[in-house]
Amino acid sequence: MTNSDTTVGKTDSETIRVLKNRRSIRKYADTPVSDAQVEAILSAAMRAPTSSNLHAYSVIVVRDPETKVQLAVPCGNQKHINDCPVFLAFCADLTRIEAAFQRYGHNLDDNNLEMGLVASIDASLVGMSAYVAADSLGIQGVMIGAIRNKPEVIADILGLPKHVYAVFGMCLGYPAEAPKQKPRMPVPGIVHREKYDATAALQSIDPYNAELKDHYVSVGKETSDDSWTNEVVAKFSTRPRDGLRAALKARGFDFT
Ligand SMILES: Cc1cc2nc3c(=O)[nH]c(=O)nc-3n(C[C@H](O)[C@H](O)[C@H](O)COP(=O)(O)O)c2cc1C
Repeated sequence: MTNSDTTVGKTDSETIRVLKNRRSIRKYADTPVSDAQVEAILSAAMRAPTSSNLHAYSVIVVRDPETKVQLAVPCGNQKHINDCPVFLAFCADLTRIEAAFQRYGHNLDDNNLEMGLVASIDASLVGMSAYVAADSLGIQGVMIGAIRNKPEVIADILGLPKHVYAVFGMCLGYPAEAPKQKPRMPVPGIVHREKYDATAALQSIDPYNAELKDHYVSVGKETSDDSWTNEVVAKFSTRPRDGLRAALKARGFDFT
């Protein structure tokens, strides 16, 4: 990224160092994560901005091994869900908004895409804040999008009422691995100055294919020359979670 500023200013901080060192952690030490730590993480995370002060999210803290075993199944049996000391489910939650509506005779059943987006963005912001807060204490983990594989099964396990769905989960614990960081796309392809640069955006693909391939080779993972584009097409060209819109509609979120 070229910088037109003449004054540089501070460019390093503890938070920047935490963010720059971040990587997904899927193996956990036996060291417990205390309730006080979870509370510290979540109360800090709740300082995240929330659209129109709606607080359109809830977080379910799961420690019970049996519940984690149940949750892992619809999430494709991801072992780290069973193994992590703490699993957090970040949910979009319109129930309090519904209650406010009802006080004045309004009905939330006729909600639109914006309500679902607002709640999903709220849940995402608080989730990422929790992730960073945890990391600042040495507690790391991985987000679990697979929690959207079967929203109704997850809702049963977690006792989620209508107008609540789990946007993503998060395994947390003290790390028992130090995986090499996965490279990121080059900044100039992602960050644009003043106007979107379509050429720069697309020019980042081939260098990233090469860099990701080198990364996978260095960690012993099977790959190909066009590693990123291949992965994207393999995972997303087949309309994954095609039933999600209908499943979320049944949970009271209208994403049409
Ligand atoms: C919303 C979201 C959902 C994710 N879901 C999963 C998941 O279900 N299982 C998993 O192992 N990793 C999951 N990840 C982790 C990504 O695969 C990971 O962040 C990405 O490959 C980059 O690697 P890094 O986090 O180590 O840099 C998810 C990440 C995000 C942001």
